[in-house]
Amino acid sequence: MSLSRTESLGHGHNGTVATQRRPFRWPALLTDNGKGIAYGGDYNPDQWPEEVWADDIRLMTRAGVNTVALAIFSWDRIQPAEDRWDFGWLDRVIDMLGSAGIAVDLATATAAAPLWLYAEHPEVLPVERNGDVVNPGSRQSWSPTSPVFRRYAVELCTRLASRYGSNPFVTAWHVNNEYGWNNRYDYSSDSQRAFQRWCERRYSTIGALNDAWGTSFWSQEISRFADVTLPRHMGGDNMVNPGQQLDFERFGSDALKEFYKAERDAVESVCPDKPLTTNFMISTDQCAMDYADWSDEVDFVSNDHYFTPGESHMDELLCSDSLVDSIALGKPWYLMENSTSAVQWKPVNSRKRSGELMRDALAHVAMGADAINFFQWRQSRFGAEAFHSSMLPHAGEDSKIFRDVCALGETLKVLSSAGLQGSELVPSRSAILFDADCEWATRSATLPSTRLSHWHDARTWYRAFLDSSRRADLIPLRADWTGYDTIVLPTMLLLSSADADRVRRFVHDGGHVIVGYATGIADERFHVALGGYPGMLRSLLGIRSEEFNVLGDVDGEPSRIYLSNGFSAALWANVVTSVDDRADVLATYHGPEAVRWDLEGVPAIVRNTYGRGATYYIGCDLGRDDISRFIDQAVDRDPCGRGANIVHTVRTGRDAVFDFYFNRCSEPVSLRIGNVELLAKGRVESGLGSDDYRIGENGYLITRSTR
Ligand code: GAL
Repeated sequence: MSLSRTESLGHGHNGTVATQRRPFRWPALLTDNGKGIAYGGDYNPDQWPEEVWADDIRLMTRAGVNTVALAIFSWDRIQPAEDRWDFGWLDRVIDMLGSAGIAVDLATATAAAPLWLYAEHPEVLPVERNGDVVNPGSRQSWSPTSPVFRRYAVELCTRLASRYGSNPFVTAWHVNNEYGWNNRYDYSSDSQRAFQRWCERRYSTIGALNDAWGTSFWSQEISRFADVTLPRHMGGDNMVNPGQQLDFERFGSDALKEFYKAERDAVESVCPDKPLTTNFMISTDQCAMDYADWSDEVDFVSNDHYFTPGESHMDELLCSDSLVDSIALGKPWYLMENSTSAVQWKPVNSRKRSGELMRDALAHVAMGADAINFFQWRQSRFGAEAFHSSMLPHAGEDSKIFRDVCALGETLKVLSSAGLQGSELVPSRSAILFDADCEWATRSATLPSTRLSHWHDARTWYRAFLDSSRRADLIPLRADWTGYDTIVLPTMLLLSSADADRVRRFVHDGGHVIVGYATGIADERFHVALGGYPGMLRSLLGIRSEEFNVLGDVDGEPSRIYLSNGFSAALWANVVTSVDDRADVLATYHGPEAVRWDLEGVPAIVRNTYGRGATYYIGCDLGRDDISRFIDQAVDRDPCGRGANIVHTVRTGRDAVFDFYFNRCSEPVSLRIGNVELLAKGRVESGLGSDDYRIGENGYLITRSTR
C-alpha cells in the first residue's frame, strides 16, 4: 500500500489515464519488426555443461521459442567471490541465443545470493516470527530492508546493466524474481527500524498511530516511534493487534517494493531504453503483495500463474487473469511462468491432462497475455525442482510434453501472424472488486469466523457470473469503476470513508452495487464503524444489522440456514433489525433452522434505490449456485450469450477483432460462429454445418474478423 493512495489505476475503457503509472513499454522480439507473441521460458543454462546449450538452442528453435528469461538464480556464477566477476559464460549463452533469434529477458540475478555473501554478512538474513534466523541455502534468504544486502544487489544490477545494456539480444530486464516468495515477513532488527520509519511517514505523530492501532486496548500505548515493535510471536493464542498486523502487511509490501525500485533504478540509470518488469504472483489463493499498487512501478505487467487441478482449473485461471488484466490497465501483459504439467511444491502434484497445456496457454492469451512463458525450459536433473515439469522434460524431445510445446509454438505463430499482439481484452459490464487490504484483514485470527476469506468470495462470485453465462471482471478497489454497470463488493471487510463515498457516488450516478455479508464493517484502520452494521454503507443499503450469526460446526446447532426463496447459507448470517421504508426485502430467513437461530423472517436480501441507481445487500454467504441465480435476477445484461459452458472473450486490435471460445465443462459443447476467419482450433469437431462446431473437453476455437 502506498502511503499516499492515489488512483493511478483506471481500466482503459473510459479513457482514464493513470497519473503515476510508468509509460507502457513492451519488450521487442528479434523478429524483423520486433513483433509477435513472445514464447519461451526460464532458462537455467548454468545447471548444465556448455555442450548442452547447442542442443537447447536447436530444440528451442524447433519449438518456436523466441524468448527466454535468463540468469534468474545465477549470482554465484556471475560473482563467484566478492572481488571476482565472471561474465564470460553469460556473454557466450546470450550470443548463442540471440544469434538463433531468441531474445533475452535478462534477470538481475539477485533472487538467490551466493553463500560467500551470507558468510561475510550474516546480518542480511531475515528473521522469522519466533526469532529464528533464516539459514542460507534456499533463495531469497535476505532481508529487503538490509542496507548491506541492498548495496550488494544494486552493485550486481549496475554491473549487469553496464555490460548488457546495449546488447541487441537483451530486450528486457527481469528484476529479481517473485519478490516476497521467501522473505515476505521479516522480523529482523533492520526490518523493525524500517517499520518504525514507515509508521512515522504514515502517521506523522505517535498519537495518530496510537489512535489507529487502538493501543488503549491491553495496555499497548506507545510513546515514540523508536518503540514501535513488529508483531512477533506473542505466545499463547498469539492474539496480535489487528491494526498493527495490517500495517505490517502493508509495510512488507512497501519494503519489498522499495527494494525492487532500488534494483530497477540501478538498471535504468545505466540502461534507460529497455523495458523492465518483475514477475508478480497473482492467483486466487495468495496475496503476497498489493500488486495493484506495484503495477505502477513496472513498464509492463508480468505474472506467474500455476494451475489449480480439479474442476475449478479453468475458472480459477480466468479469475486470476482477470485481475492481472485489470491491473495492467487493459494493456497486454506477460505470462512469465506457468507449468507444462505438474509442479513439485504441493503435497500432491497432479499432472495436466491431454489438451490442458495448450488450452491453459491460449486461455491466458484470451485474457490479454501477449507472452506465454513456462518455468522452465529444460527440466533439472537435480535440486529442489527436479520433479517440476518443464518444456523439455527428462524424457527428452521424444515426449508428449515436448510435442505439445511445439504445437503451442506453432499456434502462437499463427496468432502472431494474424496481428493479435497489441490487441486488448474487451472489458465486461460487471466488475467484482478486490483489495489486498481486505484479503489481509480477513486472514486475521480475531474475527467472528476464521473461515472468512475475501479471495474465496471474490472467486465464488467470479465463477457464479460464468455459471450464469456472463463474465465479470475482477478489478482492484482503487480502479476506476465508472465504465461498469454493476459492481460487487464481496467480503470487503474494510472500507475507508473515501471508498464508501465512491460507492455512494457510483450508485447515485446510476450504477448497481451488490454488497456482500461481511463488507464495510470497519474502516482502513480496522476500526469498527458504530451504530449498526455495515457501518460504512448502512444508509446507502437501507438496512441496519446488530449482530453476526456465525454458522459452522457449533455443537448441535444447525450449520446451514435457509432463505424464503430457497437459497441457503453455511458460514454467516447478519441479524438485520431494520429496513428503510423505501427498500424492498427480497428474501428472509425461513424454516426450522432459522427458527432455531432466532432468525425466522429476518431480512436476508434487500434491494434499495439511491439516486439513479440501486443496491443489493446480501446479508449471508450464499453458495455459488444461489449467487448465480441471484445474478440472473439482478444483473440484466448478458454479454456472453453463449451459455454457461462456453467461455467467450474478445480482444480488439486496430483493424481486427479476435474471438476466443473455450469449452468450460467436461462434455462437448456446440458453437455456431458467423462468417469469420478461423485462426486456430483444438479438440474441435466440425461438420455439423459449415459454421457449426462441437468443442470437446479442453477444446478451443479462435477466430478473427475485421473491424
Ligand atoms: C516460481 C519461481 C520459479 C520456480 C517455480 C516453480 O515460484 O519463480 O523459479 O521455482 O515457481 O513452480
